[in-house]
Amino acid sequence: MNRKVIQIVSLMALFGCVAIGFTSCSKKNPNSPGVEYMPDMYRSPSLESNMSYQKIVDGKQTNDTLQANRLPVAGTIARGFMPYPYTNDTTGYGQAGRFLHNPIEKTEANIMQGEVLFGKFCVHCHGATGQGDGPVALKLPGAPPSYTGPVLMALPEGKMFHTLTYGKNLMGSHASQLTVAERWKLILYVHKLQGK
Ligand code: HEC
Repeated sequence: MNRKVIQIVSLMALFGCVAIGFTSCSKKNPNSPGVEYMPDMYRSPSLESNMSYQKIVDGKQTNDTLQANRLPVAGTIARGFMPYPYTNDTTGYGQAGRFLHNPIEKTEANIMQGEVLFGKFCVHCHGATGQGDGPVALKLPGAPPSYTGPVLMALPEGKMFHTLTYGKNLMGSHASQLTVAERWKLILYVHKLQGK
C-alpha cells in the first residue's frame, strides 16, 4: 500500500471518529438514545390479537378502529372441540350425574391407559389404591375421600367426570391437562380400584 492511500484512509477514520463523537452525545437530553436509524424496525405497532385499537392520525385519536384479528362470531365452536353442556355449579353437577355416561369402551387396554394416567395425575393425592392417602393428601387440610367409601361407591360416573373437568373444593380442574377421552379412561380405572 502506498503512503497516499494510508494517508487517505487515516484521514477518513479521523473524520469518522469526530463525526461519531459529535453525534453520540446530546447536551439537551442526556438520556436520548440519539438518532434512530429505521425507527419502524424497533417501534413497530405490536397489536394483540382479538383487540381493537383507536386509530391515531397525526398524533390525534380518531373514531376509526384498527382490529388485529376479528373476534369469532358468537357461538363459534373450534374444530374438533366438543362443548361441555353442564355448568360449573350444583345444578350442572346433578345433571352430569343423571345424563352423562362413559363413551369409552371398557377394555383392558383403556383401563391400563387410565392406570398410567392415574400414576401421573392422581396418585399423589388419592394414593395407589384410592384410599386418599397419597403424600400430598397428608398435607391437605382435608384428605380426599376413599374411593371405596360409601359416598364414592355410590357416585355416578357423570359426576366424576364433572369433578375432573371443573374440580371440586381442594381438587383442581384437570380439563387443561387431560383430554375428554383421558378423563373417561381414568374413570374406568377408578371403577377398577372400586372393584366395579
Ligand atoms: C390435589 C389433590 C388431588 C388430585 C391431584 C386429584 N384429586 Fe381427586 N379429589 C381430591 C379431593 C380433596 C377430593 C374431595 C373433593 C370434595 O368432595 O370436597 C377429590 C375427589 C375426587 C373424586 C370424587 C368426586 C366427586 O364428585 O365427589 C374423584 C372421582 C376423584 N377425586 C378422582 C381423581 C382423579 C381421577 C384424579 C387424577 C386425574 C384426581 N382425583 C386428582 C384431591 C385430588
